Amino acid sequence: MTFIMVEMEIQMVIMPLDISRKLFGKRMKNPLILASGVLGVAKAGLESVAENGAGAVTTKSLSLEPRRGHESPVIIETECGLLNAVGYSNPGIEGVISEFTGWKRDEPLIVSIVGKDEKEFAQLAARLEQNKKTLNCTAIELALSCPHTPGYGVMAGQADPKAAEKITRAVRSETRLPIIAKLSPSVPGEVEAAKLAERAGASAINMGNSLGPGMRIDINRGRPVLGFRMGGMSGPAIRPIAVRCVYDIYDAVNIPVIGTGGVNTGQDAIEMMMAGASFAGVGSAVYFRGPGAFRKIEGEMRAWMKERGYKRLDDLVGVAHE
Ligand SMILES: Cc1cc2nc3c(=O)[nH]c(=O)nc-3n(C[C@H](O)[C@H](O)[C@H](O)COP(=O)(O)O)c2cc1C
Repeated sequence: MTFIMVEMEIQMVIMPLDISRKLFGKRMKNPLILASGVLGVAKAGLESVAENGAGAVTTKSLSLEPRRGHESPVIIETECGLLNAVGYSNPGIEGVISEFTGWKRDEPLIVSIVGKDEKEFAQLAARLEQNKKTLNCTAIELALSCPHTPGYGVMAGQADPKAAEKITRAVRSETRLPIIAKLSPSVPGEVEAAKLAERAGASAINMGNSLGPGMRIDINRGRPVLGFRMGGMSGPAIRPIAVRCVYDIYDAVNIPVIGTGGVNTGQDAIEMMMAGASFAGVGSAVYFRGPGAFRKIEGEMRAWMKERGYKRLDDLVGVAHE
């Protein structure tokens, strides 16, 4: 007995704190993933955030054809987060394939795609499958859940369980790349959507997108502030909702969950993991805490874990369920 206790104590002292992760076989230095869209589509922006501590990065969501997106202003700060209605402005899949060819960094690259229906999603997936070696991408993320772009996501019913299943299945038939289904906290049925996406071939669930749509009104002009009038809420205000969704989905699926929504500090990331996330998505924090956000969050996670004697992330995942 004494021998076992001494051995445990020795392990506590000599076992280094390990917060690395594997995403579909690729090593991540930490469990923090840059969420789609927050840093746009330029490769340099994603390289810089990877250099500054992100464990993996996600591109802006790409459509088949270039899109201008919504009228400005497309993003505003509120008391407790951001409200955005970018409207998927992007140069289209071909533009991004040439921009990202030869992703050389070790941090996994996730390519996010968005289509009007399952056919468009499948076409996008086929192009990525054809280019996966030169792109060096680790996974495809399906943006099923934007709350403020007509014809896409929530406004096209894509976050509903049956639609999520149909789109995931269509993408699965075109690619062997791992698929991440990104769901919405804005519509009921997220647990069913996660289960059906898993059944259709998703390799992970990202829960989730911005919440809404919401609106701010400029009382001096008497007009909505955003160009599109309404937008998706992100940042600290939505974290309790994201945490609850992750908690429920963790119980329902056997694939990893990425917990996204309001992760601003290391403690927030730990809360997501206790709810059941294996990874934490980080978006608005880059806006609030600057380019060093990932390093700061990682540092806070490490300090918290060290203080409490945690050595591995897996000891945190899902503990709120026990
Ligand atoms: C400016 C901005 C642009 C975004 N663009 C996309 C996008 O293109 N595709 C997508 O799936 N999510 C997009 N999102 C949603 C984020 O990826 C993330 O899911 C959401 O902001 C919640 O995380 P956060 O609270 O950490 O920001 C965007 C969010 C913001 C703030």
